[in-house]
Amino acid sequence: MFLLPMLFKGFLCCGASVLALQVLEPRHPAAEEPLSFRILQISSFANHSWVCTHGSGWLGELQTHSWDNVLGTIRFLLPWAQGNFSKEELKNIQAFLKLYFHSFPQEVQAFSSQLQFEYPFELQLSLGCLSRPVKASESFFNGAYQGSDFLSFQGNSWTPSLGAGSQAQNACTVLNHYRVIKEIVEVALYDICPRFLAGLLQAGKSELERQVKPEAWLSKGPSPGPGRLLLICHISGFHPKPVWVMWMRGEQEQQATQRGDILPHADGTWYLRVTLDVAAGEATGLSCRVKHSSLGGHDIILYWGGISIVPTLICLMVVVTLVLLVVVDSLFKKQRKSFLAADTQDPRNSGPQLCLAQDLWIKDRLLEKWKTSLNQLWRR
Ligand SMILES: *[C@@H]1O[C@H](CO)[C@@H](O)[C@H](O)[C@H]1NC(C)=O
Ligand SMILES: *[C@@H]1O[C@H](CO)[C@@H](O)[C@H](O)[C@H]1NC(C)=O
Repeated sequence: MFLLPMLFKGFLCCGASVLALQVLEPRHPAAEEPLSFRILQISSFANHSWVCTHGSGWLGELQTHSWDNVLGTIRFLLPWAQGNFSKEELKNIQAFLKLYFHSFPQEVQAFSSQLQFEYPFELQLSLGCLSRPVKASESFFNGAYQGSDFLSFQGNSWTPSLGAGSQAQNACTVLNHYRVIKEIVEVALYDICPRFLAGLLQAGKSELERQVKPEAWLSKGPSPGPGRLLLICHISGFHPKPVWVMWMRGEQEQQATQRGDILPHADGTWYLRVTLDVAAGEATGLSCRVKHSSLGGHDIILYWGGISIVPTLICLMVVVTLVLLVVVDSLFKKQRKSFLAADTQDPRNSGPQLCLAQDLWIKDRLLEKWKTSLNQLWRR
């Protein structure tokens, strides 16, 4: 516990300009959802000599940063993940984090018996702030031991979590002795974090506010029981996350609709599965209805077992095209026959007719190609 305050002091001196407290201005009055920026740290202590630490940065549910333990550097996972912080300021923060991630395990191990931590144990830290800070309590610092709430930073001191017992009480008493640690935490939570978050929201604005329309399709799940059907409505690739999906009969919402968790795609869009368990005879006439901000009020409605108009139209178009091709093809053949007959009759016209023959030959080849590709389409 002696090394840590020294490191913190060092950081305070180097980054004095960075750490000057600012009066926080409320963000634009726009009625947007408050977003958080948080740093997550997970440290697994297997024994006295083996520790593994993961550090990452998150804007809401989007991972923006990770900590590279080998290089001791921040990895920026998105082009705008530096927000509006200067290179200088980011370098200071990175230098601090490097010292922190290096010394944290050592300090915890040195004090594990005083803190009554028993190997193997897991520590999780979550610290950050919310956009539109109205009061200081919109920043947070929570610590967990063995997966349960252990302590938090409230105002300007460490407080044991409810139900964490005397062990947490003891840890807070120890921690509260270190004024410099508390000062560092205050600056990080109440100054650096809100400023960084504001800059991040501005830099990533176009990506955060992009509207991507969902694709939706229906499928049948494993039967929930004899004579019953599980109807599944898949909604995929939408952004932003809020979406309304319901199984309907006409205008009537089906209350038995089951909504899954909204799952992330790697590209930052979302996927959702919404199911309905119905008697096999009652499935027809049901539809899945999707409302999403990207659809501009034009809800997606998919009917179960209904004749979908699009595949029918495609089939019809293919048939019509094929028929047309056959007709055109036979017309050309007829023309060629009569032209060949004319050729034998009048050898003087062979020049232009040769051109015509070549022309026809090219057209025939083209038609053959079309027919083959259409046939392939047809067989699929
Ligand atoms: C500590 O834990 C690691 C990982 O489980 C293990 O490989 C190593 O042998 C352990 N060392 C000691 C001294 O117990
Ligand atoms: C970054 O942007 C925020 C919000 O617009 C602003 O308050 C802050 O001063 C900016 N910081 C820097 C270093 O430019």
